[in-house]
Amino acid sequence: MIIAIDGPAASGKGTLARRLAAHYGLRHLDTGLTFRAVAAALLARGLPLGDEDVAVATARNLDLSRLDRDVLSAHEIGEAASRIAVLPALREELVHLQRAFAEEDPGAVLDGRDIGTVVCPGAQVKLYATASPEVRARRRTQELQSKGKDAEFADVLSDLVRRDARDAGRAVAPLRQADDAHLLDTSEMDIEAAFKAAVDIVDSVRAG
Ligand code: C5P
Repeated sequence: MIIAIDGPAASGKGTLARRLAAHYGLRHLDTGLTFRAVAAALLARGLPLGDEDVAVATARNLDLSRLDRDVLSAHEIGEAASRIAVLPALREELVHLQRAFAEEDPGAVLDGRDIGTVVCPGAQVKLYATASPEVRARRRTQELQSKGKDAEFADVLSDLVRRDARDAGRAVAPLRQADDAHLLDTSEMDIEAAFKAAVDIVDSVRAG
């Protein structure tokens, strides 16, 4: 079974994906981390973010088992990831890795922006997780502050809105809800309610 979860930044899709994977005994890949890992490697070596050949070569050396969420969650890495995510050849390289991961037994939950539309268009279950920009910014601000980082709601909100616009507006594999994806708007839900709603959707698709 492959479960595809897409959605904008800080929509809670990562937490949902992790919990669904544990619930159904599937592996999990946060595909955002693959873009973040390439971006982090480029930043660390002082290489330009717009050079497609360098980005592709970096992606070829990526080891999916060694993606460090704590290191890669840094704000500037997310911003750089969204900038390199417009490069078509880089996306193609990462899609190979992501698909190979998805197709191994016993299946997987992948979360990102283009899983249901491009990476795994044949996924059995597709979810599109979203919430209002204000709710997402509030959650992200609280998450950053709980880790002892400086975070102002207004700055977090404007960053999210800018990143969403770039992700939804790019020419290749833009952020969008697949036609056959189930919409899960978590604006009024806590994580438990969102998880339960997601399980209900997955179970009803499998039963049907
Ligand atoms: O999900 P996360 O915030 O970690 O993703 C970082 C950036 O990577 C996103 O803003 C987006 O530009 C890019 N991304 C993508 N396609 C995916 C996952 C992430 O373009 N499947």
